[in-house]
Amino acid sequence: MEFDFSTMPPSQCYKLLVSVVVPRPIALVTSLNEAGVVNAAPFSFFNLMGDDPPILILSIERKPGGAAKDTAHNIALQREFVVNLVDEATAERMHACSRDFPSDESEATAVGFTTLPSRAVAAPRIAESPVALECKLYQTIDISPLRQLIIGQVVWLHSHEGVFDPETLRVNMDHYFPVGRLYADRYVTTRDQFVAEGSPEYLAAIRSQGRL
Ligand SMILES: Cc1cc2nc3c(=O)[nH]c(=O)nc-3n(C[C@H](O)[C@H](O)[C@H](O)COP(=O)(O)O)c2cc1C
Repeated sequence: MEFDFSTMPPSQCYKLLVSVVVPRPIALVTSLNEAGVVNAAPFSFFNLMGDDPPILILSIERKPGGAAKDTAHNIALQREFVVNLVDEATAERMHACSRDFPSDESEATAVGFTTLPSRAVAAPRIAESPVALECKLYQTIDISPLRQLIIGQVVWLHSHEGVFDPETLRVNMDHYFPVGRLYADRYVTTRDQFVAEGSPEYLAAIRSQGRL
């Protein structure tokens, strides 16, 4: 089959793309509004996009009526936020945070998360998340009247004990069980891994760069 996106409505482009560009990582973003309410919402149009500076990107669309989502509103206001990564233990509560809560109600509290103060930003992080990335707003790009790219610079990383080996800085996958998003309410775990052996040169190169 072939699809010409120039002739298709955005909803159909979305449907096709999100079901094949999978699994996507999930950012459970905490942010603060003007009244100090902690907002928490998941985003899977999300990825890491650089290390120097350390950059990640979220893509946030407007609500069906055209209003900004609370996360986009809060980031525009405070210019900072936290990306809490999602594992098997936090996946159900992350999914529940996607309901359209009123702006004056904290999703984090409503679904049973505990929040902890951050170090470099005002927005708190989620204690139950295995890893949290404190971010300052780097740049915002309006890709249409309905969708914004939010580029964040990571300034601080928190992790649960055991996620990283403190000597090697390598992640310990026996202590880290992130989930990825397929589409709608479908998710995958990261338990079924394999090692590719076709390019020892690549391994040597990243080792020599201190990246392994
Ligand atoms: C796993 C998951 C991923 C999502 N990814 C996105 C996304 O990338 N962009 C977006 O605009 N909405 C996304 N949503 C929908 C938002 O989470 C939802 O609109 C939420 O209510 C926004 O909350 P807020 O108004 O508190 O910011 C996603 C929902 C789920 C469950």
